[in-house]
Amino acid sequence: ATILVLNGPNLNLLGTREPGHYGRIGLAEIQQRLEQTARAAGHALHFRQSNAESELIDAIHAASAEGVAFILFNPAAFTHTSVALRDALLAVGIPFIEVHLSNVHAREPFRAHSYFSDIATGVITGLGAQGYDLALLAAIARLEWDNK
Ligand code: DQA
Repeated sequence: ATILVLNGPNLNLLGTREPGHYGRIGLAEIQQRLEQTARAAGHALHFRQSNAESELIDAIHAASAEGVAFILFNPAAFTHTSVALRDALLAVGIPFIEVHLSNVHAREPFRAHSYFSDIATGVITGLGAQGYDLALLAAIARLEWDNK
């Protein structure tokens, strides 16, 4: 199957951006590891990052057209603001795991609310870059169960 990893605004700066919150691992390294894991399990990985809400919405619509079976999504700041991205995910009906590097519950109160958590398969928050690896393993397990 094809799995989409979608990253929202400012995550292109991972590695140098507020390392106390987000760590020192860059997005390219995260992508490389995820691609290896997906390939070893016989799946294809699409990896995208955008700073623009409209491009993220378009990527979700395109995922449906491309037959993407599962999405790992870090909406970044749009987590706390975007009804439009929530609606895009509801529209396509593709299951997704919400991922955050930092523990959004241990920060400013406005980060505790997510427009995605109640419609996500699951949420990983606070485990740094490893959160993406764990989310991918969970997605792969789901896809394998679904195919049995
Ligand atoms: C984030 C948490 C968000 O609150 C923040 O706006 C981000 C990144 C995370 O991965 O911890 O940009 O989604």
